[in-house]
Amino acid sequence: MLVLAIESSCDETAAAVVEGGTTIHSTIVASQVDLHAKYGGIVPEVASREHLRQIAPVVREAFSEAGCSLDDIDAVCATRGPGLAGALLVGYSTAKAIAFGRDLPFLGVNHLEGHVYANWLVEGPPPTFPALCLVVSGGHTDLILMREHGQYERLGGTLDDAAGEAFDKSGRLLGLPFPGGPAISKLAATAGPSALRLPRAWLRGTCDFSFSGLKTAVLHAVREERASPAEIAWEFQEAVVDVLTGKVSRLARELDVAEVLVAGGVAANGRLREEMQARSPVPVRIPPPSLCTDNAAMIGAVGGHRLALGQRSPLNEDIFSTNDWARV
Ligand code: KG4
Ligand code: ZN
Repeated sequence: MLVLAIESSCDETAAAVVEGGTTIHSTIVASQVDLHAKYGGIVPEVASREHLRQIAPVVREAFSEAGCSLDDIDAVCATRGPGLAGALLVGYSTAKAIAFGRDLPFLGVNHLEGHVYANWLVEGPPPTFPALCLVVSGGHTDLILMREHGQYERLGGTLDDAAGEAFDKSGRLLGLPFPGGPAISKLAATAGPSALRLPRAWLRGTCDFSFSGLKTAVLHAVREERASPAEIAWEFQEAVVDVLTGKVSRLARELDVAEVLVAGGVAANGRLREEMQARSPVPVRIPPPSLCTDNAAMIGAVGGHRLALGQRSPLNEDIFSTNDWARV
């Protein structure tokens, strides 16, 4: 089954052609990051308008790179949420219009489920169950137990800032450009361990996370010049990575899962990738960085799996229906 997938939940306009939920024929991502950089964050209205400008050329390019056309497509899917409403509406409505015009099956896909399914796009044997999934993005830090395709139990998540949000906000405190994740990672690479110690919120006995205290500690460290910006960046990154890998490793052992699947933009972080592999008691899968950050291929991966099971979304479904993880 050849699926056209569209993603427009935040500041990336993306389209992909994916076969069978596992094979990428093309994946195109038009990033708006330069457009939002001067505001120090994403401006929803600006994002929606840019999606409108980009969506048709991006879809066209996805077909051109895949060497196929609408005539070859068996189904259309698009990110239904979570995300910025005005941004989602552009991709979702485009996908529905194509499905309607061509009388093709349509499926709305949860963005976080998409991040997890990026792990099915990597060559080699597919992930095995039960899997412990860590989704770390700009808006979410979730721990999910995946027992089977489409069967999820949310074990916990952040009580305040998402991991990516903590990177972005701390980056701003350090005077770095948006998004803070890649910028902090780059700056940290120029430093190493120092005397500075930032707090780790372990929230022992829970599957939850908290990063707002760490962010406040970064604020004080910057104001009081307790270390160089590079040393603060290093220690901040270590604190986030320490908590994420520590909690995932312990839980993977306790739950006796077959694998750990890491997903979402923060999974592009080099130190997180290294430490997760080093500390986990079970095999760890992390997609290549380009499939960790927002893309449409991951939406096509979910689409391929769910459409094959006969699942469809009605064309009158809106972006706010059935979006929670528990019902994914
Ligand atoms: O998954 P994603 O592309 O979009 C959302 O669904 O939110 O994640 C974006 C987040 C941003 O907060 C960004 O700073 C973070 O992922 N990020 C990183 C890295 N690359 C992107 N964080 C740490 N290190 C990175 N290399
Ligand atoms: Zn995302």
